[in-house]
Amino acid sequence: MARHYAVAPDYFPAHLVRALRREALLRHRRGEFHHAGIGRGQEQHRNTQVRRDRTRWLDGSTLAQCRLLDEMEHLRLAVNRALFLGLFDLEAHFAVYDPGAFYRRHLDAFNGNNGRVLSAVLYLNEQWRDDEGGRLRLWPDPDAATPVMEVTPRAGTLVCFLSDRIPHEVMEASRQRLSIAGWFRCNNSTALAPDPAR
Ligand code: OGA
Ligand code: MN
Repeated sequence: MARHYAVAPDYFPAHLVRALRREALLRHRRGEFHHAGIGRGQEQHRNTQVRRDRTRWLDGSTLAQCRLLDEMEHLRLAVNRALFLGLFDLEAHFAVYDPGAFYRRHLDAFNGNNGRVLSAVLYLNEQWRDDEGGRLRLWPDPDAATPVMEVTPRAGTLVCFLSDRIPHEVMEASRQRLSIAGWFRCNNSTALAPDPAR
């Protein structure tokens, strides 16, 4: 992974992706999503100039979530075996971007602030057309003027990248955009300062 990212189309079976999409839509209709913030814990605040998605943390309460978390656990172990990243746990949320919503260029971790080591994003959008926008842009070279990689948020595609190395951005879309964003974290907990995944 010298590029510090990977894109895998159809990484998860279509029936699992479908079940996760149905769950996300149902929870969204029930009002279970909340405007996403920036930062962690007490430092968290909302900034609609930076991001406009709504999110809900996965809690393993449905069969579809359990299946996904199971697959992610296999991935965690495989990555640790191959790349020695010391991934310890996972936190993940459903995310809904309404038409026109975005998440401006950002890093998911800096200076080890939140323990996030490897970001993993799964898309849940059936029949997404290229002209509907909503692409994820990646800057493997943070100093480059233009992004090197753009990923269409098609159902089943999984994107992984190093959380503190790859700036990225979610572009506006003309239709609702559903994803699950997750972060494999290292173990930052100490006896006096536990830092559990959400
Ligand atoms: C994030 C993020 C990317 C995407 O939630 O931090 O960058 O494509 N998501 O949904
Ligand atoms: Mn991100």
